[in-house]
This record gives sequence, C-alpha cells and structure tokens, in this order.
Amino acid sequence: MALLQVHDLHTAYGRTRVHRGIGISIEAGEIVAILGPNGAGKSTLLSAVAGLIHPTAGRIEYQGQNISDWTADRAAKAGISLVPEGRRIFAGMTVRDNLELGAYVQSDRALIEQDIERVLDYFPILRERLNSQGSDLSGGQQQMLAIARGLMARPTLILLDEPSLGLSPVLVRDLQAIILGLRDQFGASVLLVEQNASLALGVATRGYLMQTGTIAAEGLLEEMRETGVMRELYLGVSSAR
Ligand SMILES: Nc1ncnc2c1ncn2[C@@H]1O[C@H](COP(=O)(O)OP(=O)(O)O)[C@@H](O)[C@H]1O
Ligand SMILES: [Mg+2]
Repeated sequence: MALLQVHDLHTAYGRTRVHRGIGISIEAGEIVAILGPNGAGKSTLLSAVAGLIHPTAGRIEYQGQNISDWTADRAAKAGISLVPEGRRIFAGMTVRDNLELGAYVQSDRALIEQDIERVLDYFPILRERLNSQGSDLSGGQQQMLAIARGLMARPTLILLDEPSLGLSPVLVRDLQAIILGLRDQFGASVLLVEQNASLALGVATRGYLMQTGTIAAEGLLEEMRETGVMRELYLGVSSAR
C-alpha cells in the first residue's frame, strides 16, 4: 500500500480550474519530486493533500484512508506536515516560539521539549538563534526554521514547497543534505515541489513533471533529464506551438 495515493484529482479556485485529473503516489520512505513551471498547480496539489483545499473530483488516499474531505487540522494530526512556499515563519516571534507552534498537535510538555532538542540538534544554527526574532534570521535560517517547525509535528509525510527559492547555491547544497535527513534521520517520506531540477535530482529518484494542471511526464528523474523532457518543459518548447 502506498503512503499517499492521489487518484484523478481535480481542483479549482471558484470557477478557475487547476488540476484536470492527475495521479501521483509515494511509498513509505520515498522522496518524490514534483517539478514544473510557475502556475502549473504544484502548490495547489500540496494544499489539497494538506487539507487546505478540497478536490472537486477524484480522491486522495493516505495510509489507505480517503482523506479528500479532511480538514488541515486533521491531516496535520495524522502526520501530514506542510512547509509552505516562501518560508512562512512567524517573523515577530522567536525561534523557540515558532517551534512550539509547530508542536500544536502535541500536548505532552516533556515530549515537546524533547522534540525541540531533537530539531535543534539537527539545525545547530537555530540553537544559537533560539531567542532571536524570526525576522532577524537570514533567508537560509528562515527556511531551516520553517522545516524545523514542520518536524515538530512528528510528521510521517512532509510536503516541502520550493525550499530552495531565493537561497544561494551553497545553501541549496546544504538543503540537499537536510532533505535527505528528513527521511534518513526523522523517518519521514517527502513530497518535494521544486523548480530547481538539480536539487530535485540530488534527493529524489522518481518524480513528476507538472504542466498546467496535468502530469506531463513521470518516472525516473535521471531518465527525464537525459531524454530532455525536463528542459523542454522549462523552456516551454512543447507549449510554444
Ligand atoms: N488562492 C488562489 N485563488 C485563485 N487562484 C489561485 C490561487 N492560488 C493559485 N491560483 C491559481 O492556480 C494555478 C496554480 O497555482 P499554483 O498551484 O500556485 O501553481 P505553482 O505552485 O505550480 O506555481 C495558477 O493559475 C494560479 O494563478
Ligand atoms: Mg507554488
């Protein structure tokens, strides 16, 4: 049984349709990439899996359950953690308070402290900045905090939306190791949305290329790169007719 299976998903914002029947799946322990240009529907897919919006048709299954109409709160409690685009941390709050907010699904104080220690061990720079305001962190530190906050929910499935956006090449390399650790150290599966194909290739073996609400290609990322389908998508060759 796949950890996450999306069947024939249709979504819309009011009368504006986004997805027109897409399917994806993730096995437990997998890191899967979703690539595609701006506006393709990548973030909307993550919103649907996280329960922030609901499909107009189709089905989302998580651990064998149909979660299509679940609220975001219920999805979070079941282990689905969204790290949204644009590292939306609480800028006016300290690093520690941001982490505590990430633990809102947890009520056991001792476990929360234990989890804070665990994520601070993983992100030592955040330990140094524990009492700093979110707004005083660098872009890379804010991205780490956004991921660390997501980890505080003890997720089974992490939805990462364009974590490399605006980061320097050096930080993108750090990010690659961080994403691999989400699986290898925290035991989470990861659905990674990226426009940075080389980051995706560095962490995921399998993925999907999304284009205007459809899956344009899927399979091994290395193969998609070799056959040129990735480049075609980004240069808009196939849609320039
Ligand atoms: N809150 C919203 N209300 C209306 N339209 C939206 C909203 N969010 C996204 N869209 C539209 O849905 C489409 C897919 O957007 P999105 O999922 O954000 O794409 P991506 O993440 O691939 O850039 C785009 O055409 C976008 O303009
Ligand atoms: Mg997006």
